[in-house]
Amino acid sequence: MNIVILAAGQGKRMRSALPKVLHPIAGKPMLGHAMASAEAISGQHQVIVVIGHGGEAVQEYLEKSGSSAKTVVQKEQKGTGHAVLQATDLLLDDAPTLILYGDVPLIQTQTLERLCELASHGGLGLLTQDMINPHGYGRIVRNLDGGVQAIVEEKDATSDIKAITEINTGLMAVPTPKLKSWLKNLKPNNAQGEYYLTDIISLAAAEGLPVLTTSPDAPWETVGVNSRAQLAELERTWQLELASRLLESGVTLIDPARIDIRGQLVCGQDVKIDVGCIFEGQVTLADGVTIGPYCVIRDAVIEAGAVIQAYTHIDQAKVGSRSVIGPYARLRPGTDLAAEVHIGNFVEIKNSQIGFNSKANHLAYIGDATIGSKVNVGAGTITCNYDGVNKHRTIIEDEAFIGSDSQLVAPVTVGKGATLGAGTTLTKDAPAGQLTITRVKQASLNWQRPVKKPK
Ligand code: UD1
Ligand code: CA
Repeated sequence: MNIVILAAGQGKRMRSALPKVLHPIAGKPMLGHAMASAEAISGQHQVIVVIGHGGEAVQEYLEKSGSSAKTVVQKEQKGTGHAVLQATDLLLDDAPTLILYGDVPLIQTQTLERLCELASHGGLGLLTQDMINPHGYGRIVRNLDGGVQAIVEEKDATSDIKAITEINTGLMAVPTPKLKSWLKNLKPNNAQGEYYLTDIISLAAAEGLPVLTTSPDAPWETVGVNSRAQLAELERTWQLELASRLLESGVTLIDPARIDIRGQLVCGQDVKIDVGCIFEGQVTLADGVTIGPYCVIRDAVIEAGAVIQAYTHIDQAKVGSRSVIGPYARLRPGTDLAAEVHIGNFVEIKNSQIGFNSKANHLAYIGDATIGSKVNVGAGTITCNYDGVNKHRTIIEDEAFIGSDSQLVAPVTVGKGATLGAGTTLTKDAPAGQLTITRVKQASLNWQRPVKKPK
């Protein structure tokens, strides 16, 4: 299969320096969505992206995303037929050519496979749709037997044709040798002075080639984006679709209209997600996980039965089973929590491992630390991991107790079962089992409070 994705248009109405096809839906450029659906079609294929406006940025995106797609440049945008013509040298004759639009991101693989099937027996497959308001689209003109004869653009249409509600979505699958010869014969004699790809339909009909049609499973699959308003609308449509898939799979969403998934969210059984949460990248929520309201979770694994409470921020971290995190906790990259760990409000953790059933319940910074099991980290504890140049590790062994408002000046080790008195500034290792304390001795003096001088 040859897959040609048209992405040369400017997208003027976006009013953006970013090429239209690079604007994201669910955190991924529209072009990436179209490509992913195309690449998931079974069988071998090559993808050719026709670039033009903002071509360098599109090329850069393709390279960065590790895509094997080829690009061809359409220097001037002379119409959809002219755009496909730029790719003809790369098209292999022994497979049909599937034509997609980079600004129609939500097309699904199943629909594309159906379209390709129509073209697999020498005919032309056309994706059409019935629309209550077909204004602006090319209309499908059929003869009395129902055979497709032509596509007529809105701007070239008579009022009779404008009354047709079956529209051209723009997506089609075409026998490649025929496509090549038809493209060469296109003429720009129409209202827009463009080379219309859609004119190949009447050429096919004239040759007696069957033009077969199918429709997308869902109407949003072929919705194109021309403006920020349409982009926002399609984002909501897609998020609602993702939410309904989660509901279908047994996840509880308190409000399916208030969740954003910008990547892949994999959920076990009986997962519950409250409102306003954002999931980015690859997130796994195991069985029985509960996510409170307004959490932001990126590239994370949350193990079974863990509870993430409101306003928690998790980035590149692992949370062990039955742990309780938040509200207002922040787990930064490299955080690895074992089972039954408790992390409370305003605790920040970075690049640290915390063992079974350890707790840091209030106001702490734990960075570059290795903490054993059943450790209690008191309120206000800080690992001083950075000397202004290098980072150093703090090691806290099992069952240690770190008194409130302690500073652990790394590199430093707190031994097994050691206790640090509140307010300790630890600069040397604290031995196992002992109480280590650095505070000044408490004193009480007889003392007269100053009194205000008379003026
Ligand atoms: C096209 C179809 C119309 C269909 C509609 C569906 C034609 C002549 N008309 O119309 O029948 O109903 O799509 O949305 O094909 N592009 C290029 N180079 C160009 C022109 C366009 O790469 O020279 C790309 C655009 O970036 C876009 C796509 O092709 O991704 C469609 O172009 P657009 O101008 O939106 O086509 P329409 O006039 O809407
Ligand atoms: Ca369009």
